[in-house]
Amino acid sequence: MPLAEIFSKHPEHRYIMFGGKGGLGKTTFSAATAYYLARKGHRVLIFSVDPQASLSDIFEQDIFGQGKVELMENLFACEVDADRRIHEYQDQIRRKILDMYGMSEIPEEIESYIRAASAEPAMEESAIFDAVVDIVVEGGFDYYIYDLVPLGHALYYLSMGAIYDAWLEKITGLREQMRQYDEAISTMKRQGQTSEDQIYQELLDIKNRIGASSRIMTDPKRTAFYFVLTPEEMIIEDTRKAAHLFSQYRVPINGYVVNRVISRGLLEQNIPEYLRHRIDMQRGALESIRTAFGDRVLAYVPEFDSEIKGWAAIKSLAEVMYEESLP
Ligand SMILES: Nc1ncnc2c1ncn2[C@@H]1O[C@H](COP(=O)(O)OP(=O)(O)OP(=O)(O)O)[C@@H](O)[C@H]1O
Ligand SMILES: [Mg+2]
Repeated sequence: MPLAEIFSKHPEHRYIMFGGKGGLGKTTFSAATAYYLARKGHRVLIFSVDPQASLSDIFEQDIFGQGKVELMENLFACEVDADRRIHEYQDQIRRKILDMYGMSEIPEEIESYIRAASAEPAMEESAIFDAVVDIVVEGGFDYYIYDLVPLGHALYYLSMGAIYDAWLEKITGLREQMRQYDEAISTMKRQGQTSEDQIYQELLDIKNRIGASSRIMTDPKRTAFYFVLTPEEMIIEDTRKAAHLFSQYRVPINGYVVNRVISRGLLEQNIPEYLRHRIDMQRGALESIRTAFGDRVLAYVPEFDSEIKGWAAIKSLAEVMYEESLP
């Protein structure tokens, strides 16, 4: 079934993700899909947490860390500045500690604890995850296209539960730590009693927020996940392995999109030998793809003669992917 048909048949799939290894075309396909859906009259937000600012690159506009930027009618983009999120996150913790214990300054021991805690990868992922939660929970769009980083075929997504646990543990740990300081700072405390309840309420809120959004993002009724691959044996093998892993986590894959297929029509022309070889290699690989994924391949996208950047290229690609002329 062609990609366009899937989208029109499943309007309930409002969260769209393209996964796959690095550099295969996730950002390119995300941008083309966002363009296509916006041109069809839907309100679309494409977002990423990639520090490389690849949306800024492909749309040729400075989007990074600027919140939601309107790119054209119905199309908005957001590139989360993860570093800044981490700092904001640290500040938030600081403010809470100050507030809860009525301190005017953070004791050095606690300050170094906060610094150590935020240097950990779990903290970074939590801050990033929190940013994604914010975007999804806020609402306001018909479609959300999450341009994923190549992190192990978006295993990031599957491990969300674990990240969230690590985060809670961190916060709970911080709460423990605070208890140890209780004695020393008891004289500075405002109201020891209510601060405990405050922390607990905080934890509960976070838990509910994350629970709600992670249910949305992994719900097969609302989320569609597509794998990007190219006609190369090694990539096909990696994709098969990743697909198997996904099925173990019970994350449904909605289909595969093959990128960078070189036109066989070129063989009729006077082309260099290396290109003939590549076309030949691709023929074998495309055969393997048919064997491995069959009719779950939703589109074959040709190799373009230049990088895909800027509106004209995005539009051409969208027209090929969705087999439709677009305004
Ligand atoms: N069909 C194509 N024809 C020509 N160039 C392409 C095609 N698809 C993608 N590219 C180019 O390949 C490069 C990598 O594509 P892209 O950035 O979309 O990959 P990615 O999977 O998002 O990478 P990363 O894993 O680093 O995020 C880009 O320069 C893009 O313009
Ligand atoms: Mg990318």
